[in-house]
Amino acid sequence: LFIDASERSSHPIPQTLFGIFFEEINHAGAGGLWAELVSNRGFEAGGSNIPSNIDPWSIIGDESSIIVSTDRSSCFERNKVALRMEVLCNSEGASTCPSGGVGIYNPGFWGMNIEQGKSYKVVFYVRSTEAIDISVSFTSSNGLQTLASTNIIASASDVSNWTKMEVLLEAKETDHNSRLQLTTSKKGVLWFDQVSAMPLDTYKGHGFRNDLFQMLADIKPQFIRFPGGCFVEGEWLRNAFRWKASVGPWEERPGHFGDVWMYWTDDGLGYFEFLQLSEDLGALPIWVFNNGISHNDQVDTSSVLPFVQEALDGLEFARGDSSSKWGSVRAAMGHPEPFDLRYVAIGNEDCWKKNYRGNYLKFYDAIKRAYPDIKIISNCDGSSRPLDHPADLYDFHVYTSANNLFSMSNQFDQTSRQGPKAFVSEYAVTGKDAGTGSLLAALAEAGFLIGLEKNSDIVQMASYAPLFVNSNDRRWNPDAIVFNSFQAYGTPSYWVQRFFTESSGATFLNATLQKASASLVASAITWKNSDGQTYIRIKAVNFGSNSVNLQVSVGGLDPNSVKLSGSTKTILTSANLMDENSFNEPDKVAPIQTLLEQADKEMSVLLLPHSFTSFDLLK
Ligand code: AHR
Repeated sequence: LFIDASERSSHPIPQTLFGIFFEEINHAGAGGLWAELVSNRGFEAGGSNIPSNIDPWSIIGDESSIIVSTDRSSCFERNKVALRMEVLCNSEGASTCPSGGVGIYNPGFWGMNIEQGKSYKVVFYVRSTEAIDISVSFTSSNGLQTLASTNIIASASDVSNWTKMEVLLEAKETDHNSRLQLTTSKKGVLWFDQVSAMPLDTYKGHGFRNDLFQMLADIKPQFIRFPGGCFVEGEWLRNAFRWKASVGPWEERPGHFGDVWMYWTDDGLGYFEFLQLSEDLGALPIWVFNNGISHNDQVDTSSVLPFVQEALDGLEFARGDSSSKWGSVRAAMGHPEPFDLRYVAIGNEDCWKKNYRGNYLKFYDAIKRAYPDIKIISNCDGSSRPLDHPADLYDFHVYTSANNLFSMSNQFDQTSRQGPKAFVSEYAVTGKDAGTGSLLAALAEAGFLIGLEKNSDIVQMASYAPLFVNSNDRRWNPDAIVFNSFQAYGTPSYWVQRFFTESSGATFLNATLQKASASLVASAITWKNSDGQTYIRIKAVNFGSNSVNLQVSVGGLDPNSVKLSGSTKTILTSANLMDENSFNEPDKVAPIQTLLEQADKEMSVLLLPHSFTSFDLLK
């Protein structure tokens, strides 16, 4: 591999090159990154009509002691369904309640992770015709062990109208599969609504589950595209994600049924929280909004203006002064300063739809008029032919086999350098080569990403998809990060992304293989770490089944300019190509870093079969 380390042949890699794409799929947010423990906190998931299915809430007690139903008596206008609980038994007398009382419980998203010594804030709204005595507790999944508990007692006059109750529970024990119970042994009729349980310990108190946040932060994403994907489109427009229903006090959000990935979200992770997440990650937000097109229905271009106004309002929410109409809503949510929103995508995968161009242009013109600096992303792939409409960037999505993706390391070599830049906003190996996250898939992706680095004069951004999967609800395979209520691990594809963390904003060096090979892709960059030390990073994917001796020759450097001490080698490989990580073996396929035994301008390195290796040479 001949590497020219002189400036003459290098090109800067955009600071924005590698980021992440967050979609509400596989319970990535609800029951995932968003730390809310209660599922269906407002009892609306069964629909806004009554009687409503309150799943996954269940009843403690039998018909002789409790009757649970739903009505539309909530104090919250946009989510009227409330739970009505008629308690027929009492603490003493003829109809004595069973020990522990009767009531309701919520198992969360496949079990709540309650940890000893940690505190949890439980909030709910209650109304009653009589005085109340409610026990609020976290228990084991069968209700037999109590991990934390407190009682809420109030007089009838205190709760004759809807009243917010808030308690802090500290867990005495750990149970990863626990549940929240609201129970009582006091006869009477009570109504409950908007029941929430949040760990106090979330990232900066912003509501993000710490371990999952950290896994994102470790990639150092330069941008975050959100909130979908198909989630933005919906099967039907009425079920698409609409930002206005996802902001303001959490209790007042209606929630919605995501009909593509087929689950309800309370929308605790709403537009504001996505912007906050971007800021917390130090990543630029890329907001994808619905352009009046879903999978099955479309708004005619002549009627799309309300959608355009909704997008403009969303921009004002993110960027407007806190005295502006929507900026003030953001400020009231605790963020008076504008968010740094510079990119929007008009729709997702809608290019081929009848109304896309017409609708797109309405959005494009209105946004450019109001916010000339905002970069607009089109859904139409401009990599093989020029776009017929204006755009700053265009989406490029690819899900394919390992061989195909590996061979696509040359995909953008011939792309025109005129016109908009490419945003590879979704890529992954899928199908049998990938399983639920194989080494084979990751190696192909590494080859593809090396090609993107090489072409980063035209490819400005890239993100893997999907990012997260709750192992209890696999809607899409594979994914970068797998988690359950308390554990998380990265698939090999996640680890590949970590190899590229330093590439954004680095300098790409011209590197050519002595002998072209269909199973070898290599590149070199130079980058500076946070201490100001400069490295040359050589990355190579050996996609073949034989080891390769690679002669590396770095030209354009002063003699003795490579230091052995501090130079490292990192390898991602495994015994079998289809090896995957799991909760039991989270690091089965994970990078291993060692010190280099030889580091020089001229060196011979061994690339193991089916491996991805990077060499960091300290200058
Ligand atoms: O990443 C999963 C899905 O794949 C996205 O929702 C969609 O954009 C694509 O079809």
